[in-house]
Amino acid sequence: MTEFPKNFLWGGATAANQVEGGYNEGGKGLSVTDITTAGSLTKPRYLTYTLDGKKGKVAGMFASSFPTGAKGKIFPDEYYPNHKAVDFYHHYKEDIKLFAEMGFKVYRMSIAWSRIFPNGEEAEPNKEGIEFYRNVFKELRKYNIEPLVTISHYEDPLYLAQKYHDWQDRRMIGDYVRYATTLFKEYKGLVKYWLTFNEINSTIAFLEFMGNNITDEDVQKAYQKLHYQFVASARAVKAAHAIDPEYVVGCMIAGSVSYPGTPDPKDILENRHAWEKNAFYCGDVQCKGEYPTFAHRLWNEHNVKLDITEQDRKDLKEGTVDMYTFSYYSTSLVTTHKIDEKMKGNFTSGQKNPYLKYSQWGWSTDPTGLQYYLEVIYDRYHLPIMVVENGLGAVDKVEDGAIHDHYRIDYLRQHIEAMKKAIGNGVDLRGYTTWGCIDLISAGTGQMSKRYGFIYVDRDDSGEGSLKRIPKDSFYWYKKVIDTNGEDLGE
Ligand code: BG6
Repeated sequence: MTEFPKNFLWGGATAANQVEGGYNEGGKGLSVTDITTAGSLTKPRYLTYTLDGKKGKVAGMFASSFPTGAKGKIFPDEYYPNHKAVDFYHHYKEDIKLFAEMGFKVYRMSIAWSRIFPNGEEAEPNKEGIEFYRNVFKELRKYNIEPLVTISHYEDPLYLAQKYHDWQDRRMIGDYVRYATTLFKEYKGLVKYWLTFNEINSTIAFLEFMGNNITDEDVQKAYQKLHYQFVASARAVKAAHAIDPEYVVGCMIAGSVSYPGTPDPKDILENRHAWEKNAFYCGDVQCKGEYPTFAHRLWNEHNVKLDITEQDRKDLKEGTVDMYTFSYYSTSLVTTHKIDEKMKGNFTSGQKNPYLKYSQWGWSTDPTGLQYYLEVIYDRYHLPIMVVENGLGAVDKVEDGAIHDHYRIDYLRQHIEAMKKAIGNGVDLRGYTTWGCIDLISAGTGQMSKRYGFIYVDRDDSGEGSLKRIPKDSFYWYKKVIDTNGEDLGE
């Protein structure tokens, strides 16, 4: 019978901007998320700015959406949910204690770049920011919880993002590497596992959401940004290994699984191309150290001409990652035929799959897709793998002080079973960190009501609530899963 490996890293994941709060405390500078308003399933999030002395806002999550000359700004009549988030900044000891109670072996978290370098260009890092994370890591170590740290999780310092138009300038690489190197030096001995960029492939995945309005210029910008991030990631990997050969550095890719919508050979080929673009383009560069052949097809389709130097190619080759990590939520269908019913998921859109159930936010539940992705990826890269995000965003009800989230338990159980099957088929899976192990601000919608956690946080979509933490039923279930190393998955 298949078992999880003895030292399997069970745990949970969050990102700084979605849990920390304290957006203007401890010397932190503004990041792009600090000027991002709340949205909902039907309403986008907006970035707010001033242009010619007037207030403006534009839908999006990245400064690339800004009109020329706009400057990000906070307005008192807008609500910015990430400013306080769930206030991990002041509650981290309490929260880590709860993680420890569940038996976490690992906690995936990110560092807010603008807490370390407030505008991204200072000569010296911000001491208070450095000390904050040192204390968090020490607290984790107190309970033998291994930190798994994402260096950049959707929150560039606002100053840099504006200056370089969201990675449209090669100088961003140097700022990123300096920031990453500072972390590698400061936290040597406290952290072992690092991820360079969260869902690095999101840049091209976002293009899908622009639908027919997409121009060659948009595509050019997306691929150029990605290239600079690949180089930044590779140089960071090299720096990490030079500072501590024990460091394990991973890529982090949004696990985008698609199936052909019909048996039409055109759909089969279309789906193959979707995998190349959504999964293999980034995986190949970060794991194999060079652009795949099909990259030329993707570029040529939109007249993309990239600024790639010889040194870049050398760095990509020398800075390949040590492990492959990814997020996994749902799957999609790809077809060349007319779409009857559309779905939306994490970077997925298109036709609805009649064999799958969809969440309140329209994301499909597809554990088989997780097994499929694990087996394909391991076969392609032969690197150790971690699933570093997976979970169900759902509305939770507090009833007599308890939260009976059997739907979440059900979702997670099915995905753990899928991982077990993949391990049985030879995949070297090392860890699993469920997304939003404590309730947090949704990245896509800015809502609090889209909850993923084992731990409920009393806060609503308008920022009201006591911030009290309450373990949900899933908390006790996951504790048992960890205790039995994935053997007992029953409720
Ligand atoms: C991933 C991101 O795309 O999905 C997380 O890395 C995000 O930051 C998660 O929170 C879930 O998406 P959402 O929109 O429900 O928060």
